[in-house]
Amino acid sequence: MKKILVTGGAGYIGSHAVVELAQADFQPVIIDNFSNSRESALAGIEAIVGRPVPIYRIDCGDATALRGVFQAEPDIAGVIHFAAYKAVGESVDKPLAYFQNNVGSLLTLLQVMPEFGVESLVFSSSCTVYGIPDALPVTEATPTKPASSPYGRTKQMCEEIVHDVAGAPGSQLRTILLRYFNPIGAHESARIGELPLGVPNNLVPFITQTAAGLREKLTVYGTDYDTPDGSCIRDYIHVVDLAKAHVTAVQRLLDRKASAPVETFNVGTGRGNTVLEVVRTFEEVSGQKLNVLLGARRAGDVPAIFADATHAAEVLGFRTETSLADSLASSWLWQQTL
Ligand code: WQD
Repeated sequence: MKKILVTGGAGYIGSHAVVELAQADFQPVIIDNFSNSRESALAGIEAIVGRPVPIYRIDCGDATALRGVFQAEPDIAGVIHFAAYKAVGESVDKPLAYFQNNVGSLLTLLQVMPEFGVESLVFSSSCTVYGIPDALPVTEATPTKPASSPYGRTKQMCEEIVHDVAGAPGSQLRTILLRYFNPIGAHESARIGELPLGVPNNLVPFITQTAAGLREKLTVYGTDYDTPDGSCIRDYIHVVDLAKAHVTAVQRLLDRKASAPVETFNVGTGRGNTVLEVVRTFEEVSGQKLNVLLGARRAGDVPAIFADATHAAEVLGFRTETSLADSLASSWLWQQTL
């Protein structure tokens, strides 16, 4: 089995990717410092895949520790780099932590990988690199505009860094940049899912915690945007669909099918939904009535964005399979296990 290093592999998207990798006959190896994940995710992964997954409890921004992992795990075939902070709103309050962690960990990884002959990298990028797009849906050719948050800026910087490093003379680096939209949902087994530490930043965990009575109300951040019902539009992709895109991408790199040193793909459903549509759909699938406050806008928010998912479909053969309703139902099932 080909060994794939998964940084942030105990996190929300990372844990789901580890499961899909294992079920596609790869040997995932997890790196996680548990700054935004919990050890319980490891038990959930093992319960699903039926075997323990090697884990190194280190910060992948620590070059010495990272080298130790590469030394302990010879023949790593490729790396999927999830480890990053990812809350748009939080990044406005903590920009330095976001730059240090998100950019710093990538720089360390790019430094260490070639020392061990590891050339294949799938990088967790984000639709936030588009900023506030002039036209929708966004394609991979849509010009990136100034990001609306420090989080988005870290992803823009990381993409530029990858292009410059891969384009340097003698570089063997081959990378696929996956621009995620809004990951939601949980594995059908309800053994792994989103585990926000503290008050959730993201919409869907806040919805499920409100429905579970853990939060008094859900505040909808802004209903005066230029959208059908005034609330923001996003492209909500089920986390398992997103995880499967990583397996496809890393296989493409290992098969040396990539057409350029750096390839970029939107990973979204191609559909946009407003916050109020998500709220209504959740209420329908869960049978729970949410206590909702229509509040003020949140700093850093983009009014509307959703993917043109054609490129991933045509080149990777990747298409999402899960509806918004089913994604929200899986989130609610997961929340009820917590
Ligand atoms: C979605 C919408 C909020 C909470 C996420 C990830 C980021 C990136 C892009 C991958 C916004 C509104 C939220 C709440 C609300 N994905 N909202 N009340 O900001 O789009 O970013 O997707 O890289 O990593 O974080 O997601 O879930 O925070 O917000 O009204 O209590 O829901 O204003 O319009 P966002 P989000």
